[in-house]
Amino acid sequence: MSKRERISIGLMGLGVIGSGVARALLERVDAIAQQVGCPLILKRALDCDISKKESAELPDQMFTSDPNQLLHDPEIDIVIEVIGGDTHALAYIKEALSTGKHVVTANKEVIAKHGPELRSLAAENRVDIRHEASVGGGIPIINPLKQDLLANKISAIHAIINGTTNYIVTRMAAENIDFITVLKQAQELGYAEANPANDVEGVDAVYKLAILATLAFRTEIHPEDIYREGISRLTSQDFRHAKELGYAIKLLAIAKEENHSVQVRVHPAFVPEGLLLAKVDGVFNAIEIEGDLTGKVVFYGRGAGPLPTSSAIVADVIQLAQSINLGLPPKPQPQPSQIKKITSISHIVTRYYMRLTTTDSPGVLAQIAKILGDHSISIASVIQKEADAQAQTAEIVIMTHPAQESAMQKALRETEALPVVKEIGNLIRVED
Ligand code: HSE
Repeated sequence: MSKRERISIGLMGLGVIGSGVARALLERVDAIAQQVGCPLILKRALDCDISKKESAELPDQMFTSDPNQLLHDPEIDIVIEVIGGDTHALAYIKEALSTGKHVVTANKEVIAKHGPELRSLAAENRVDIRHEASVGGGIPIINPLKQDLLANKISAIHAIINGTTNYIVTRMAAENIDFITVLKQAQELGYAEANPANDVEGVDAVYKLAILATLAFRTEIHPEDIYREGISRLTSQDFRHAKELGYAIKLLAIAKEENHSVQVRVHPAFVPEGLLLAKVDGVFNAIEIEGDLTGKVVFYGRGAGPLPTSSAIVADVIQLAQSINLGLPPKPQPQPSQIKKITSISHIVTRYYMRLTTTDSPGVLAQIAKILGDHSISIASVIQKEADAQAQTAEIVIMTHPAQESAMQKALRETEALPVVKEIGNLIRVED
């Protein structure tokens, strides 16, 4: 039964996502009113750039460039924040929660850096903060972690959560072209930003993994806890070798809990071709969660773009509005059950792919094998490609059995120092 005449919304940010959200709310007004039980009114939309009023095609009286008009309007029940970044957005979210407004945000940076603090602030003020759109765009993953998977003890997350980098590695694998060429084309097509560093160097994926791991392991994982490597060192040779060996290369976000300690890392990884994640191509995202009761479950779909992101944001708004209309208290915020230790990257154990260029002379392989053996690293296979006759060099690819990262890094430094080694081309972890 409807208790409210209407529920009012304030929208902060009228960029591509904000305009998409405004459109979805206005176009679906009747269907949403039916789902909620009373009308949902977009009362105020804010952007500091007044030209956005035209581009978002909103009525004049709805638009404001003054955050106070929205944050201090007692009629506004729910604030949607899609400004992005943490400069202004964090302050606005805190202000909204403190003045008793519910918040829906897509802001991965703010949630990754300040999620636990904001959830506590929401609980203190008896309101809710929801952020389904902060990871995986239109893919439902936050609510499944907060609700549907609650019965599980989650042991691992393996995810492809950055569409830009997945688009780049997919094309590098398929077309044998180098990173810079694909990046430029991705920028022309709008799949990569003019400044691509956040995506390409793995920062975006780190924020998203911090959010997922915090919820999955019921602890606090901060972005700075996460080991990070981007994709800019990958070359077309790496993709050729990976294919020959039966692997795809993906930028993986990995979190695992072992013995009450959590390892969290974002880096390119060899993924066996037979695994589902190896087949996630282009701008698509996929998140595989391993629970003790469910086993592995995979969430797959479009991880970005105004339509998928609006889907997640508007669903959060509808669920909040349903509770408000029924006069229900906010759902309890997930709280860390305990602060867990972070496993240092130097302690992880994994297999490795190593590519190096050496002089083409007798005894080279023996010298490299000795270094690896001295560090208890066992070789699983070796490929040597025919020498470049002119340069008198050879390209050697070594796959190892599981080894400790610290041993591998020491062996790498010693190998690099050998006079016969011209260059270490790449070292990539294998995630079997
Ligand atoms: N830049 C992100 C990506 C989309 O490439 O996946 C927004 O999270």
